[in-house]
Formats: sequence, structure tokens, C-alpha cells
Amino acid sequence: MHVISMNDFGPDNPIENILASASRMIEWGRRNTCDKQYPHSKAVLLFLERSTRTQYSTEQAVMNLGMRHTMVSGADHTSVLKGESMADTFRMYAGQGARIIAIRSSLEGTPLHGAKICQQYIEEQSILNPGPVSIINCGDGCQWHPTQAVLDCTTIMQTLGRLDNFRLGVLGDPGKGRTAHTLVSELSKKPGMSFVFVAPQGLEMPEQYKHGLENMTESDSLDALADCDIVYVTRFQTERMPKEQQRYVESIRHKFIITEDVLNSWNPNIRIMHPLPRVDEIAPEISLDKRLIAFQQAEYGIVARMAIISMLCEGPFKPIDLNPRPPVLLADSKERIIDKQKPVKHFQPIDKGTVVDHIPAGKMTLIFRVLETLGGFQKKSPRQAVQYVNSGKYQNGKKDVLLLYDYQLPELCAATLQTMFPGVTINYLPGNNTIIKKKFNAPLAIDKNVCCSNQACITNHDREAKPRFIFLGKEGEERFVSCEYCGSLLWP
Ligand code: NCD
Repeated sequence: MHVISMNDFGPDNPIENILASASRMIEWGRRNTCDKQYPHSKAVLLFLERSTRTQYSTEQAVMNLGMRHTMVSGADHTSVLKGESMADTFRMYAGQGARIIAIRSSLEGTPLHGAKICQQYIEEQSILNPGPVSIINCGDGCQWHPTQAVLDCTTIMQTLGRLDNFRLGVLGDPGKGRTAHTLVSELSKKPGMSFVFVAPQGLEMPEQYKHGLENMTESDSLDALADCDIVYVTRFQTERMPKEQQRYVESIRHKFIITEDVLNSWNPNIRIMHPLPRVDEIAPEISLDKRLIAFQQAEYGIVARMAIISMLCEGPFKPIDLNPRPPVLLADSKERIIDKQKPVKHFQPIDKGTVVDHIPAGKMTLIFRVLETLGGFQKKSPRQAVQYVNSGKYQNGKKDVLLLYDYQLPELCAATLQTMFPGVTINYLPGNNTIIKKKFNAPLAIDKNVCCSNQACITNHDREAKPRFIFLGKEGEERFVSCEYCGSLLWP
């Protein structure tokens, strides 16, 4: 397996197993060794973006586990700066025997790209490496930092004795802070959690991480954090901001500093975590305060990473499906004769074409964008969108209907609409007095004629990282389509 995102810790591999192992590693960490040794396994630590803690503790972890390793510190120590692609870089390390590649990059989705490239190369071409190669994401742009989340959860377990039923505050830059995104994603799966996100305007937690959080408040005032059990502070990620936003952050950052006075006004049992590096968001006057546990947190980085690497070395390895099934499967289809007697009230009746019915009211603009992206409109195809009151199928009693005259909607478009909006019905009228109502299975992914709008996504930097969008959310509810690499929505 890989550790690319928190989705790698699912029901069949719960994070609790790793936390238990990390806790067991504490004693070994003190002795700079471990009862588990992997002397024949090689690790490549590819830190293309700056790092102090993650780089050092990952290196300490592989050394404690008796592995051989190479540290690549900075893109200027690779041929990436000569223009070599990330795909070729991964192939190179895979071919030369890496068992583990830990990667930090400013480009989102680089770890997933690496996992696919290595797997394909090992399966099809490598002479020396029988595989597998496991990828560890040590931070990709603003997106994920799963090994940090494991060490954060280790810290919380060691401090509170539980990973559920507490109040977590996030202060600073939840907008771009990957450590905050990853921790919140994990803790949102736990019962009894409540969240308070405190950030300046424009740096709020992105929607995809707030989605489904039952007990969550947002504020731009430190007072909102007073009754938290843990406050997780992040620095402002100015290097990922446009100049104008950097200037804005410089003008307001003094309002977001935890001083001794601020700390004393909060819950006396509060604990302050920080992935580090701190800039000025935690005043130096509280560096030695017992309530600040950021430096112990960093120490847990070694044991958390020992636990992760040992888990990866022991297997089992679950390969990525590199050839997923075709996008659309017809699940069901019903045909009936059109009842010409039945009056059509709200629009001009259609003899030949497609009727997309039961669209939740207000979603028509989004539907147009979906169809435009997927080639669902031919330039000359006449279309008519109507909205009318229906008998209360939807909460506000309204639904939208889209009529496509003389046009058979392509199956991928139909399947995408039905997946995003489960109530939508697609009615094909071939022009022989019949209506064929079709129901489609969810396409596994959308990967034709699409590109990702996120300029920091690996798909915009490496031609071998082909844009691919997947459906997020639960079957039967409204779903979103997001970039498999960086999580950006295809239709925000
Ligand atoms: C963080 C990172 O790189 O995301 N640090 C870390 O890994 N411990 C936080 C940051 O850079 O602000």
C-alpha cells in the first residue's frame, strides 16, 4: 500500500492500528533502533520542497528501521531542474531498487502520480526491482500531509488519551495549510468531535474539508477558541499566496498571535499544537509553557514515521487499478409509447431528442457547464431549459427540465448527471412515438477532454499525469466531481 492521503486509512486499515504501533515505537525511538529491521530495503527521501522536521524525522525513522536510504534535499539535487519530468524521476528511483519513496513537492497530486508511474514501470519494465514500491506523501502543495496527521493523532492520543469527543480549534491558515486539512479530514470521521476554525477573511477552511462536519463554527476572533481542548495553530502559507494576499496577511497577522495573556484567557487545560515551523503566531514568551506541546509533537514524528514505514514494508501491497472499467454501464432501460393525449403544460412537446427531467431547481447553470465540458451540446443543437412547479417532489416544490431537441445526449453526459443528481431521469425520444427512459451506473471517472483548473496540480506540469476526475460523496446524495490528483472540483 501507499500513504498518499487519509483515504489510505480506511475501515480495513484503521489509523488506530498505526497509532498503537507508533506508541509501541516510543521505547525503540529512545534507543534509536527497533525490533523490526529491513536491511535489504531501500528508501529514497525526495524532498523537493523545504523541510526541517519531516525530512529529518523520516530519515531517523528509516535509520532506526535499519534500511538503506538516499536523501535528496531540494529539487536542485535532481535533474528536475534540467527539465526532467517527475514521471521519469520516479521511474529512475523505482528501477534502481527503491522499496519506499517518500516525496514532498509543492505540486499537488505528485505522490499519486508517482505511485502510478512506479507501479507501471515495475510491472512492465524493471530489471532490478521486483517491487512493490510504496509512496509516502510528505506534503503535496496545499493538499495532504498524512504522516503529519499520524504524528498529530499520536500526540493527541498521548495527551488526551482519545481521538474522539473533544473540541478542536484550528487557528491561522486553514485555507492553505495542508496539515490542518489532513488532521481535520481524519478527525471528522470520529464521534463527538466539534471544530472551531479561526482565520482571517479569505483564508477559511475550504468547502471540501468542511463538508459533512456536524458541529463546526467559523470566526475571525481568537475568543472563539476559549473552550477548545486543543488548538492547532498553523503559520500563514505566504509562499503559496499571490502578492496581494501576502500584503493583506502582513497587515493583519498581529491579530492572530497567541500571547501569554491570550493563553491565560482560555480553558486552563487547553493544549496548543503546531506542525512547525512557527513564524510569530505563537509568542516566544510561551515557548516553555506546558500547555504548548508543539515540540513534543515534532518528536512523535520519528515514531509515527517508523510505524508507517514498518507497516508499508510488511505489506500487503494493494496495487492501484491502472485500467479501470469503462466509464458507463447501462444498468436499466424502460421503453413506453408516448401518450399523445396527455397535455404537456409547460413546454413545447418534443418528438425527437432527449428530456432531462427532475433536475433539482436552481441547478440548471451547473448542468449546462457539465454538458458543455463533456461535449453534451453540439454547437447547433437547439436546447430549451424550463422550470416548473411540480407536486412537491423537491423541498421547494420545483424542479427543472432540460429539453434537447433532435439530440441524443451521449451516455457519459447522462451517467454523469444521474450520478451528480440521483433523482435525474434521462428520457430518449428516438422519433418513433416512444420514450426510452435510461438509468446509468456511475462512471468510474471522467478523463476525456478535461483539465484541472488548479495551476499547482501535477496534471498541469507533467504530461504523463493525465487529468482524471472522480465522484465524491455518497451514492444517493448530490455528488461532486473532483480531480483525482489535487481534489479541485471540476465544476466549482
Ligand atoms: C508543515 C508543512 O510542511 O506542511 N510542516 C511540517 O511538515 N511539519 C507546516 C508548514 O510548512 O507550515
